[in-house]
Amino acid sequence: MGRSNVGKSSLLNTLVQRRIARTSRSPGKTQTINYYAVDDACYFVDLPGYGYAAVPTIVRQRWGPMTEAYMVDNPRLAGVVSLVDCRHPPTPLDRAMTTWLAEKRLPVLAVLTKADKVGRAAREERIQETTRSLGLDSEQVIWCSSRTGEGRDHVLAAVDGLLERKVDA
Ligand code: GTP
Ligand code: MG
Repeated sequence: MGRSNVGKSSLLNTLVQRRIARTSRSPGKTQTINYYAVDDACYFVDLPGYGYAAVPTIVRQRWGPMTEAYMVDNPRLAGVVSLVDCRHPPTPLDRAMTTWLAEKRLPVLAVLTKADKVGRAAREERIQETTRSLGLDSEQVIWCSSRTGEGRDHVLAAVDGLLERKVDA
């Protein structure tokens, strides 16, 4: 999940190394909940984004009920990967969403995307700021770039961790 245009569908494509999810330069591309089977292991689920005024009203109005119905009391949900743009601090909406996920006791992994847009030194700073701002533990926040593929292995390992916890639970 994450703000419209943050790069959710792009990350999904990078993780599976196929262009299966549609991406766009303009926000509001993904408007429904899309399931992608990953071998026989799990599904990656691509959600519409939140927080962009330019997104059609009907899509914005549907977002809350649709994602809430999907996430709340979903026994198959292993965790939520919450995306934040590496160039900016989390928005108030990002913070509200993370609080909501914590209230629902859903495991969260925060991924700082578009890391190719900032230098390595700045990434570390962004990670610390995001960790603080979202009230997460440091191991819950990682960075990646869907453009260069950097950080992909780290995201996959963290997702694997969520799946293992789910299987153990
Ligand atoms: P919605 O479906 O509208 O909510 O957006 P989304 O979060 O799925 O974003 P999407 O993957 O469609 O990407 C939005 C734009 O960001 C596209 O132009 C992508 O090419 C670009 N983008 C995504 N990830 C990266 C990245 O890691 N680096 C750079 N430089 N651009 C990226
Ligand atoms: Mg999308």
